[in-house]
Amino acid sequence: TSLSNIRNFSIIAHIDHGKSTLADRLIQLCGGLTAREMKAQVLDSMDIERERGITIKAQTVRLDYKAKDGQVYELNLIDTPGHVDFAYEVNRSLAACEGSLLVVDATQGVEAQTLANVYQALDNNHEIIPVLNKIDLPAAEPERVRQQIEEVIGLDAHDALEISAKSGLGVEDVLEAIVHRLPAPKGDRNAPLKALLVDSWYDAYLGVVVLVRIIDGTLSKGQRIRLMLTGGAYQVDRVGIFRPKQEMRNSLGPGEIGFFTASIRQVADTRIGDTVTDEKKPTAAPLPGFKPSQPVVFCGLFPVDASEFEDLREAVGKLRLNDASFDYEMETSAALGFGFRCGFLGLLHLEIIRERLEREFNIGLIATAPSVVYHVYLTDGTMTELHNPADMPDTQKIAKIEEPWIEATILVPDEHLGAVLKLCEDRRGRQTQLTYAGARAMLVYELPLNEVVFDFYDRLKSVSRGYASFDYHIIGYEEGDLVKMALLVNDEPVDALSIIVNRSRAEMRGRAMVDKLKDSPGHMFKIPIQAAIGGKVIARETISALRKDVTAKCYGGDITRKRKLLEKQKAGKKKMRSFGKVDIPQEAFIAALKMD
Ligand code: GTP
Repeated sequence: TSLSNIRNFSIIAHIDHGKSTLADRLIQLCGGLTAREMKAQVLDSMDIERERGITIKAQTVRLDYKAKDGQVYELNLIDTPGHVDFAYEVNRSLAACEGSLLVVDATQGVEAQTLANVYQALDNNHEIIPVLNKIDLPAAEPERVRQQIEEVIGLDAHDALEISAKSGLGVEDVLEAIVHRLPAPKGDRNAPLKALLVDSWYDAYLGVVVLVRIIDGTLSKGQRIRLMLTGGAYQVDRVGIFRPKQEMRNSLGPGEIGFFTASIRQVADTRIGDTVTDEKKPTAAPLPGFKPSQPVVFCGLFPVDASEFEDLREAVGKLRLNDASFDYEMETSAALGFGFRCGFLGLLHLEIIRERLEREFNIGLIATAPSVVYHVYLTDGTMTELHNPADMPDTQKIAKIEEPWIEATILVPDEHLGAVLKLCEDRRGRQTQLTYAGARAMLVYELPLNEVVFDFYDRLKSVSRGYASFDYHIIGYEEGDLVKMALLVNDEPVDALSIIVNRSRAEMRGRAMVDKLKDSPGHMFKIPIQAAIGGKVIARETISALRKDVTAKCYGGDITRKRKLLEKQKAGKKKMRSFGKVDIPQEAFIAALKMD
């Protein structure tokens, strides 16, 4: 295909606004799939993605579209991950395209996540086509949402398309708009190979598969290539495209999006954002914008049943094969035995991995309190990165501790604004912006990430009845008055429950934790539970009687978890851990780490 007939685009949408449905429709209209294959939504392939409705890995599909002008266009749709933790991956996927469809649910309007992705698209010089979806619904208010897009995003929405991805109404117009409103890619076929590494994953048959966007030159079977930033050199053994089924090709040219394999041993050798070039005739400079992804949230994962440690080792190894941004190393805890200290891109990433371990690998897990990465400056002038409260150096050796801060953007309907403001203030937030768009407020807050990792997102959803949307990015490190708070059960410290916390918040957190733990069932005698900073006890409770109803307390309304819990109890799994000769059920343990 000549460059002028190629269009590369992605779809930006908030969760549930209809991205997958629209993608399926576009594929169907271009004859990409049979009706039977249409049954399952094709782009989100992993189970958990489907259940949680989140796209984790970018996927791509090439469509041939015969436009009304009689010409056949090659359309490449890159699907972007739908969550804030994967902002960098989103950015690189967008960098592979010239334009995006901005899909907004016409019954809902713009959400915080949409905003963040639109800004990323604009950073990548995208042409953006606003698409108002779900106009078949009586509650649709396309005029209001059109106005909101103009006010909140500052995008001209007068020629926004009105469609129903579900019924197919207006979807043909979307294809025409892609062809006529989005620019064609540019590139030089005769220049040395220069391609953007957009994504990579492990395939049971093909090994490591690398998704690329060719900028200049060609990528062919048999070619020797080099990954410029990580340095590896390989021989390409397969080249192809996805329709969405893979189709082998001899080569890919400028503007095209496709994949290659090259006997690369592990996904971790292929970094998203790297530049692929020819080994002998390399391009002058790598593409800008590369940023190796760094875990920002850490927690310990331990098997509930110590005999499952080997299973856990195998499982984390397998997950890592396909997820280079998930990091782990072995950890031992006096209370919890052998496990792994794991690093994640964010809270959702943590949740996804934990759930996959429990569901796909059927391993009962105890997760310790999530921790952020602290910068601990020692009196000898050195700085260490602290991922684990257990590794906190002696207070005498510490000059200062810095913690990461984020900038959070929250969109919330007016009636819940008060509750959200209170939540942000409670979490040491600093308001930097408060604006209105119709009946919605847009709030920008700076917050310590430490206050967000525990349960901020859950709390935000609950105080706003599910109506607030949230997005964040890290803005930097700042000194904080941070202390390590230990938890003692029957006078013995439980390392896995110690946390690093702002001094002003320590008593409140300590009280909440001992309060939750005192609900451990099964003890007819008195056992003290204490929270302490240094040697000083700041909260204390005593377990005295047999209590039963732990689940009800822990999971206000999370039905899948409750069900899972009940299933596990039925299966007769051991759910207790012993601390200071006291059995603490896993649920009480998890509850202790949450705040109310
Ligand atoms: P994620 O994959 O979670 O990001 O969601 P998504 O944006 O891909 O949304 P998805 O396509 O899964 O659609 C969410 C829900 O909205 C589904 O139940 C769809 O059937 C429904 N839906 C999508 N488009 C339309 C539409 O045009 N009209 C109506 N009535 N429902 C729609």
